[in-house]
Amino acid sequence: MLKGIGRVLIDEQTLMRRIDEMGEQITRDYQGKDLVLVGILKGSVLFLADLVKRIKLPLVIDFMAVSSYGSSTHSSGVVRILKDLDEEIEGKDVLIVEDIIDTGLTLNYLTELLLSRNPRSLKICCCLDKPSRRKVPVKVDYVGFSIPDEFVVGYGLDYAEKYRNLPYICILDPDEVE
Ligand code: XMP
Ligand code: MG
Repeated sequence: MLKGIGRVLIDEQTLMRRIDEMGEQITRDYQGKDLVLVGILKGSVLFLADLVKRIKLPLVIDFMAVSSYGSSTHSSGVVRILKDLDEEIEGKDVLIVEDIIDTGLTLNYLTELLLSRNPRSLKICCCLDKPSRRKVPVKVDYVGFSIPDEFVVGYGLDYAEKYRNLPYICILDPDEVE
């Protein structure tokens, strides 16, 4: 079942320790604010679920679904909105929660789109960052881990919709996958 799964890059304990810190930092930074967490489906769901439990503030959770990858491991550069937010964000303090920032194309597009709706503030929180792959500049306010240019799966991240349920992040060798 786990054919193609290589080395574990970030184990569960390391993930949880870092998410503890991120939750504490976000709790400090958003005191008295009107926080809306925007999870980007589907990759962010495990990260978002662990993160929100550590943010000791009233908040709202909303979701967007976008598509920039098919089942391949390379960005098409095309961002499609598959599901928009349920709620208005005008005047709110919006924090986008994403699994990974790679080329930056997805978050660059989403930032522009959400800014046009006049939130009071807009920041980005990513579990993983692959800085060496950036094609467009994006300011990421909270980063869990910077990682090398490897295709990773687990903890929400998929290859052809599989492996999202792994509780750790590991490197996938696409040549080894059926
Ligand atoms: P961009 O290039 O727009 O991409 O910053 C962000 C989206 O690309 C996907 N992505 C990955 N998915 N393993 C994955 O499972 C990876 O190593 C990887 N790199 C990028 C992901 O959907 C992310 O939201
Ligand atoms: Mg994603």
